[in-house]
Amino acid sequence: MSQRSKCGDDHPATVSFTAMENGTAADYQLLERYEAGYAAALPGRVVAALERLTDSLAGYQVTRLEHSLQTAARARLDGADSDWIVAALVHDLGDELAPYNHGEVGAAILAPYVRAEVVWVVRHHGLFQNYYYAHHLGGEQHARDRFREHPHYQSCVDFCARWDQPSFDPAGPMDQLASFVDDLDEVFTRNAWSQLDADSDP
Ligand SMILES: [Fe+2]
Ligand SMILES: [Fe+2]
Repeated sequence: MSQRSKCGDDHPATVSFTAMENGTAADYQLLERYEAGYAAALPGRVVAALERLTDSLAGYQVTRLEHSLQTAARARLDGADSDWIVAALVHDLGDELAPYNHGEVGAAILAPYVRAEVVWVVRHHGLFQNYYYAHHLGGEQHARDRFREHPHYQSCVDFCARWDQPSFDPAGPMDQLASFVDDLDEVFTRNAWSQLDADSDP
Protein backbone atom coordinates (compact mmCIF):
# COMPACT_ATOMS: atom_id res chain seq x y z
CA MET A 1 0.00 0.00 0.00
CA SER A 2 1.47 3.40 -0.94
CA GLN A 3 1.11 5.90 1.84
CA ARG A 4 3.09 9.08 2.27
CA SER A 5 4.22 10.44 5.58
CA LYS A 6 3.33 13.95 6.65
CA CYS A 7 6.70 15.28 5.52
CA GLY A 8 6.06 14.12 1.95
CA ASP A 9 8.91 11.64 1.60
CA ASP A 10 8.50 8.00 0.58
CA HIS A 11 8.58 6.50 4.04
CA PRO A 12 5.32 4.84 4.97
CA ALA A 13 3.21 6.76 7.44
CA THR A 14 3.39 5.48 10.99
CA VAL A 15 1.22 5.86 14.03
CA SER A 16 1.80 8.49 16.70
CA PHE A 17 1.81 6.08 19.63
CA THR A 18 4.37 3.82 21.24
CA ALA A 19 1.81 2.15 23.51
CA MET A 20 -1.56 1.06 22.16
CA GLU A 21 -3.50 2.79 24.91
CA ASN A 22 -2.32 6.16 23.56
CA GLY A 23 -3.42 5.59 19.95
CA THR A 24 -5.91 7.90 18.24
CA ALA A 25 -8.75 7.11 15.85
CA ALA A 26 -6.55 8.35 12.99
CA ASP A 27 -3.78 5.98 14.09
CA TYR A 28 -6.07 2.97 14.06
CA GLN A 29 -7.70 3.97 10.77
CA LEU A 30 -4.21 4.08 9.26
CA LEU A 31 -3.40 0.62 10.60
CA GLU A 32 -6.71 -0.72 9.36
CA ARG A 33 -5.85 0.42 5.82
CA TYR A 34 -2.45 -1.29 6.04
CA GLU A 35 -4.02 -4.47 7.38
CA ALA A 36 -6.54 -4.60 4.54
CA GLY A 37 -3.70 -4.37 2.02
CA TYR A 38 -1.72 -7.03 3.87
CA ALA A 39 -4.67 -9.40 4.04
CA ALA A 40 -5.34 -8.93 0.32
CA ALA A 41 -1.88 -10.30 -0.42
CA LEU A 42 -2.55 -13.53 1.51
CA PRO A 43 -2.84 -15.78 -1.58
CA GLY A 44 0.74 -14.95 -2.54
CA ARG A 45 2.01 -15.70 0.96
CA VAL A 46 0.22 -19.06 0.97
CA VAL A 47 1.90 -19.92 -2.33
CA ALA A 48 5.29 -18.92 -0.87
CA ALA A 49 4.66 -21.06 2.22
CA LEU A 50 3.73 -24.04 0.05
CA GLU A 51 6.87 -23.60 -2.05
CA ARG A 52 8.95 -24.01 1.11
CA LEU A 53 7.58 -27.52 1.67
CA THR A 54 9.98 -28.98 -0.88
CA ASP A 55 12.63 -30.13 1.57
CA SER A 56 10.52 -31.41 4.45
CA LEU A 57 9.85 -34.92 5.73
CA ALA A 58 12.58 -37.37 4.82
CA GLY A 59 11.53 -40.96 4.18
CA TYR A 60 8.54 -40.46 1.93
CA GLN A 61 8.72 -40.98 -1.83
CA VAL A 62 7.32 -37.49 -2.43
CA THR A 63 8.05 -34.11 -0.88
CA ARG A 64 5.44 -32.50 1.33
CA LEU A 65 4.73 -30.06 -1.51
CA GLU A 66 4.18 -32.94 -3.94
CA HIS A 67 1.90 -34.60 -1.39
CA SER A 68 -0.08 -31.37 -1.08
CA LEU A 69 -0.30 -30.91 -4.85
CA GLN A 70 -1.41 -34.50 -5.30
CA THR A 71 -4.03 -34.25 -2.55
CA ALA A 72 -5.43 -31.13 -4.23
CA ALA A 73 -5.22 -32.71 -7.69
CA ARG A 74 -7.30 -35.65 -6.45
CA ALA A 75 -9.87 -33.25 -4.99
CA ARG A 76 -10.00 -31.45 -8.33
CA LEU A 77 -10.40 -34.72 -10.24
CA ASP A 78 -13.32 -35.58 -7.96
CA GLY A 79 -15.03 -32.33 -8.95
CA ALA A 80 -14.63 -30.80 -5.49
CA ASP A 81 -15.28 -27.08 -5.06
CA SER A 82 -12.59 -24.48 -4.38
CA ASP A 83 -13.06 -24.72 -0.59
CA TRP A 84 -11.99 -28.36 -0.70
CA ILE A 85 -9.23 -27.85 -3.27
CA VAL A 86 -7.63 -25.09 -1.21
CA ALA A 87 -8.10 -27.13 1.97
CA ALA A 88 -6.31 -30.04 0.32
CA LEU A 89 -3.46 -27.72 -0.66
CA VAL A 90 -2.91 -26.27 2.82
CA HIS A 91 -3.94 -29.17 5.05
CA ASP A 92 -0.34 -30.04 5.97
CA LEU A 93 1.04 -26.50 5.93
CA GLY A 94 1.49 -26.54 9.70
CA ASP A 95 3.68 -29.64 9.73
CA GLU A 96 6.90 -27.65 9.99
CA LEU A 97 6.07 -25.75 13.17
CA ALA A 98 3.35 -27.92 14.72
CA PRO A 99 4.29 -31.53 13.94
CA TYR A 100 1.92 -33.01 16.54
CA ASN A 101 -1.12 -30.83 15.86
CA HIS A 102 -0.55 -29.53 12.33
CA GLY A 103 -4.23 -29.79 11.44
CA GLU A 104 -4.92 -26.94 13.87
CA VAL A 105 -2.65 -24.66 11.83
CA GLY A 106 -4.25 -25.48 8.50
CA ALA A 107 -7.70 -25.06 10.01
CA ALA A 108 -6.76 -21.69 11.48
CA ILE A 109 -5.52 -20.43 8.10
CA LEU A 110 -8.75 -21.55 6.41
CA ALA A 111 -11.27 -20.66 9.12
CA PRO A 112 -12.06 -17.04 8.07
CA TYR A 113 -12.57 -18.02 4.43
CA VAL A 114 -14.25 -21.41 4.00
CA ARG A 115 -17.34 -23.14 5.39
CA ALA A 116 -17.25 -24.77 8.82
CA GLU A 117 -17.35 -28.33 7.44
CA VAL A 118 -14.06 -27.85 5.62
CA VAL A 119 -12.38 -26.23 8.63
CA TRP A 120 -13.47 -29.12 10.86
CA VAL A 121 -12.15 -31.72 8.44
CA VAL A 122 -8.73 -30.08 8.16
CA ARG A 123 -8.53 -29.65 11.94
CA HIS A 124 -9.23 -33.36 12.54
CA HIS A 125 -7.63 -35.01 9.52
CA GLY A 126 -4.48 -35.99 11.42
CA LEU A 127 -6.43 -38.07 13.92
CA PHE A 128 -8.54 -39.61 11.15
CA GLN A 129 -5.33 -40.56 9.30
CA ASN A 130 -4.50 -42.79 12.28
CA TYR A 131 -6.81 -45.30 10.64
CA TYR A 132 -4.14 -46.04 8.03
CA TYR A 133 -1.04 -46.49 10.16
CA ALA A 134 -1.44 -46.16 13.94
CA HIS A 135 -1.87 -49.91 14.49
CA HIS A 136 1.62 -50.48 13.04
CA LEU A 137 3.06 -48.35 15.83
CA GLY A 138 0.93 -49.51 18.74
CA GLY A 139 -1.37 -46.50 18.41
CA GLU A 140 -5.13 -46.08 18.25
CA GLN A 141 -6.20 -47.00 14.72
CA HIS A 142 -9.86 -46.25 15.37
CA ALA A 143 -9.37 -42.93 17.15
CA ARG A 144 -11.75 -41.37 14.64
CA ASP A 145 -14.64 -43.40 16.10
CA ARG A 146 -15.02 -40.89 18.93
CA PHE A 147 -16.43 -38.50 16.32
CA ARG A 148 -18.72 -41.04 14.67
CA GLU A 149 -21.85 -39.05 15.55
CA HIS A 150 -20.40 -35.71 14.40
CA PRO A 151 -22.09 -34.22 11.30
CA HIS A 152 -18.72 -33.86 9.54
CA TYR A 153 -17.40 -37.32 10.43
CA GLN A 154 -18.04 -38.82 7.00
CA SER A 155 -16.54 -35.81 5.21
CA CYS A 156 -13.32 -36.31 7.15
CA VAL A 157 -13.32 -40.05 6.44
CA ASP A 158 -13.74 -39.26 2.74
CA PHE A 159 -11.09 -36.49 2.72
CA CYS A 160 -8.56 -38.94 4.12
CA ALA A 161 -9.62 -41.97 2.11
CA ARG A 162 -9.95 -40.36 -1.30
CA TRP A 163 -7.45 -37.48 -1.27
CA ASP A 164 -4.96 -37.49 1.63
CA GLN A 165 -3.87 -41.07 2.32
CA PRO A 166 -3.29 -42.14 -1.34
CA SER A 167 -1.28 -39.00 -2.19
CA PHE A 168 2.25 -40.19 -1.51
CA ASP A 169 2.63 -41.59 -5.01
CA PRO A 170 5.31 -40.22 -7.37
CA ALA A 171 3.37 -41.75 -10.27
CA GLY A 172 -0.01 -40.40 -9.17
CA PRO A 173 -1.85 -37.31 -10.43
CA MET A 174 -0.06 -34.08 -9.59
CA ASP A 175 -0.93 -30.60 -10.82
CA GLN A 176 1.50 -27.68 -10.75
CA LEU A 177 1.18 -25.16 -7.94
CA ALA A 178 0.52 -22.42 -10.53
CA SER A 179 -2.63 -24.26 -11.63
CA PHE A 180 -4.18 -23.58 -8.21
CA VAL A 181 -3.64 -19.81 -8.15
CA ASP A 182 -7.21 -19.02 -9.19
CA ASP A 183 -8.62 -21.24 -6.41
CA LEU A 184 -6.31 -19.63 -3.84
CA ASP A 185 -7.26 -16.13 -5.03
CA GLU A 186 -10.95 -16.95 -4.97
CA VAL A 187 -10.89 -18.32 -1.43
CA PHE A 188 -8.42 -16.02 0.30
CA THR A 189 -9.83 -12.76 -1.06
CA ARG A 190 -13.32 -13.43 0.30
CA ASN A 191 -14.54 -11.20 3.09
CA ALA A 192 -13.28 -12.79 6.30
CA TRP A 193 -15.90 -14.90 8.10
CA SER A 194 -18.40 -14.44 5.26
CA GLN A 195 -18.82 -18.22 4.99
CA LEU A 196 -20.03 -18.71 8.55
CA ASP A 197 -23.50 -20.13 8.85
CA ALA A 198 -25.80 -20.15 11.82
CA ASP A 199 -24.90 -23.61 13.03
CA SER A 200 -21.15 -23.26 12.51
CA ASP A 201 -19.06 -25.35 14.87
CA PRO A 202 -15.61 -25.35 13.29
FE1 LIG B 1 -1.68 -34.14 7.71
FE1 LIG C 1 -1.58 -35.01 4.21
